[in-house]
Amino acid sequence: MADRLTVLITGSDGQLGTELRKLVRKGDCHVGRFLFVDIDVLDICNRADVHHYFKTNHIDVVVNCAAYTAVDKAESDADAAFAVNRDGVAILAECCVEEGAYMIHVSTDYVFDGRGSIPYKESDAVNPTGVYGQSKWEGEEKMREKGVDGMVIRTAWLYSAFGHNFVKTMLRLGAEREQISVVADQHGTPTWAEDLARAILSIMQKCDFKTRHGLEIYHYTNEGECTWYEFASAIMQMAGKTCQVMPISSDEYPASCRRPAYSVLDKSKIKEEFGLDIPLWDDSLQKMLDELKGMNEPNSKESWR
Ligand SMILES: NC(=O)c1ccc[n+]([C@@H]2O[C@H](COP(=O)([O-])OP(=O)(O)OC[C@H]3O[C@@H](n4cnc5c(N)ncnc54)[C@H](OP(=O)(O)O)[C@@H]3O)[C@@H](O)[C@H]2O)c1
Repeated sequence: MADRLTVLITGSDGQLGTELRKLVRKGDCHVGRFLFVDIDVLDICNRADVHHYFKTNHIDVVVNCAAYTAVDKAESDADAAFAVNRDGVAILAECCVEEGAYMIHVSTDYVFDGRGSIPYKESDAVNPTGVYGQSKWEGEEKMREKGVDGMVIRTAWLYSAFGHNFVKTMLRLGAEREQISVVADQHGTPTWAEDLARAILSIMQKCDFKTRHGLEIYHYTNEGECTWYEFASAIMQMAGKTCQVMPISSDEYPASCRRPAYSVLDKSKIKEEFGLDIPLWDDSLQKMLDELKGMNEPNSKESWR
């Protein structure tokens, strides 16, 4: 078991970063000292700053939550997506190699083209369908090229009570409209960022990073699968919204990026190696909605940023 590590969390104001901060502040992880930084303190694309930060703070482990995550916008903003998701990751990997730090990086189900029909394993061939997926894949490859000791955890359809995501959009539309249309031909698994954060902290507590060499890929999402239409229907139902959800095809929904039709991930490897018990997506959705409701109550003071 690891102890007394200095752990750097980059992109810490995003969904996953905020969930990690929330759990660490609640006392859910005792591996050492955590440094939470977002772009205002540490831009992962700034090579000199990242080198300086690593040297000054003696980083043992970095959990990279920094990313360009606007999937549709990336199609017309490719330079920005590649700068963060590929080049920023390369800079972090380089610094980890130089300083002997271990790198935990988060990637995406969108590295797959979605032509499969059984859950994707880590060893399955990738073939991204858009700029975002391509930039994330090239980030993974940069880690390999730099020879960093680390792991890539690919996840999918992330949501949280913090930040912008599909669940919050559905809740807003559910309050504004009587009917909405949602694509029913893309299959995946919604993942509560708190569950992923918990998994990362659990891995951190179980691993002796000094004895782990090379790069390993893992898949982590919640259990189960659904379409965006089924996800939206569950959100409306659990939140008590009367808004009717209508199924449509991807062809009927204008989006700049073509998303994979099937991107369910096989999680056997991460479950077996780290003894993780992963919650079902709809159980976690209910918990997130409960948390959000608590945060919206008049006397709530919860803020983890
Ligand atoms: N969201 C999903 O549905 C999803 C699905 C699969 C995989 N993932 C992956 O999961 C990880 C976490 O995603 P998330 O949803 O938590 O992302 P997020 O909420 O978009 O958070 C990303 C954070 O990184 C920051 N950032 C952007 N550029 C940066 C830079 N150059 N240096 C430092 N920080 C920077 C962002 O700041 P700004 O907000 O100011 O840009 C934001 O605070 C990412 O690797 C993502 O690719 C996400």
